[in-house]
Amino acid sequence: MTEKVLTSGDISEIEKAYQHFPLRSAACIEGLKIIQKNHRWVSDDAVKELAELLEMSPAAIDSIATYYSLIFRKPVGRHVIMVCDSVSCWIMGYEGILNHLKNRLNIGYGETTQEDRFTLLSICCLGTCDHAPAIMINNDLHRDLTPDKLDAILETYK
Ligand code: FES
Repeated sequence: MTEKVLTSGDISEIEKAYQHFPLRSAACIEGLKIIQKNHRWVSDDAVKELAELLEMSPAAIDSIATYYSLIFRKPVGRHVIMVCDSVSCWIMGYEGILNHLKNRLNIGYGETTQEDRFTLLSICCLGTCDHAPAIMINNDLHRDLTPDKLDAILETYK
């Protein structure tokens, strides 16, 4: 028997999320967020188990999970760095920020550092264009960036 991905704690959080809805499927995104919060990412097995719990097909859950770029379908490190690559950030020094991150961490987009500390991803506009260039690390927004500021910021994520 294969080991389950979802713990009893995950399941009770997800059950709480759907109990106020007429259909369990209404809690699909919340369920994905709960799994990601507790496991960092959402594996295929987790999708199957969530589908069973929410009385949905795994394909339906998968298409929703794939649509939302903030749901990770591949393993990620402890800290996920999302670099805004939209127009204002491009103009205000996106390339310098990205190159600095790549050199400093020795990884490219979609990759994770060896010690599992950082994963580097791109994201479209973070909604803070007047403070470009910007990145998000986990849920923290960092704005008006320069390569020098980046080093101090990275140090705060162990
Ligand atoms: S373009 Fe980067 S925050 Fe809007």
